[in-house]
Amino acid sequence: MRVGVLTGGGDCPGLNAVIRSIVRKGVQEYAFDFVGLRDGWLGALKGHVVPLDISSVRGILPRGGTILGSSRTNPFKHEDGLRRVRDTLSAHDVDALIVIGGEDTLGAATELSRQGINLVGVPKTIDNDVSGTDFTFGFDTAVGIATEAIDRLHTTAESHMRTLVVEVMGRHSGWIAIHAGVAGGANAILIPERPFDIEQVCGWVRSRFKINYAPIVVVAEGAVPHEGQMILKDQTLDEFGHVRLSGIGEWLAQEISERTGTDARTTVLGHIQRGGTPSAFDRWLATRFGLHAVDAVKDGDFGTMVALHGTDIVRVPLADATGKTKRVDRSLYDEFEVFFG
Ligand code: F6P
Repeated sequence: MRVGVLTGGGDCPGLNAVIRSIVRKGVQEYAFDFVGLRDGWLGALKGHVVPLDISSVRGILPRGGTILGSSRTNPFKHEDGLRRVRDTLSAHDVDALIVIGGEDTLGAATELSRQGINLVGVPKTIDNDVSGTDFTFGFDTAVGIATEAIDRLHTTAESHMRTLVVEVMGRHSGWIAIHAGVAGGANAILIPERPFDIEQVCGWVRSRFKINYAPIVVVAEGAVPHEGQMILKDQTLDEFGHVRLSGIGEWLAQEISERTGTDARTTVLGHIQRGGTPSAFDRWLATRFGLHAVDAVKDGDFGTMVALHGTDIVRVPLADATGKTKRVDRSLYDEFEVFFG
């Protein structure tokens, strides 16, 4: 059997670990043959297919990024997309695909699977917002990076007795913000799921200064004030209809400064959260996802996604996982309010 592998959407640490484990198990145990599709769905549209064997995956376990490249290409936004994907697969004798992606890439995979393409999904994203799985790989690394940044910001904030606002990634969900904010001892954590009251945030800032500590405010890029909208970097939409975010951190620092009469600065962590070497947990999870994805292909269990449930890797229908975004629920957020202010 010949299996094609692609990585789509924003990259994240652990992608190479999945590719390696897919190829190692597929070749060694099942005598599968592999090819890589370059740059996500773009490679499937353009017929950009590269060889993928054991020698190409040697040494890549600890490397960030993806040896196959990635893009935010939506095959259904291109003329004749479905036919072109089919043509590429048949031109290269590809019997099945393993699609490693987040909600967008796997959303396209869900539709392609409905159209009869044999594929299995593997969930990835630093945002941890894919439904149907407890965690995605990439998330643990991003939380580690954000937590280390918050730890460092505490000491400089206190030396200058100023507020430091830390903007982390998270377009629709505040998983990175809440995990890193709690781990780093933030005094306010603002997430997209919970529109915030800027006066309440300023109240937390004032009470922190009163006891001679400098406040750290962690904000997800998609967080919004009660009376406001997401702050956009620009209006350009990607092929899945997403705008580019970032700016809420700057806005917050300015508001805090003006409303409290104290100094406030912003650090935007941005792509630092996505780059570099994966944590041990992400390598472990990515490796297990890869092994189980190959098993699903071997079993002909197409239209499924491998997922982490507790400590088990299971298969869930792709359509269930891509139907909605996994968000931070109210009760989880409420647990930590005792630390605010
Ligand atoms: O992949 C998810 C993510 O990291 C989001 O948290 C963020 O909003 C987005 O990607 C940034 O995408 P890009 O790298 O395309 O600007």
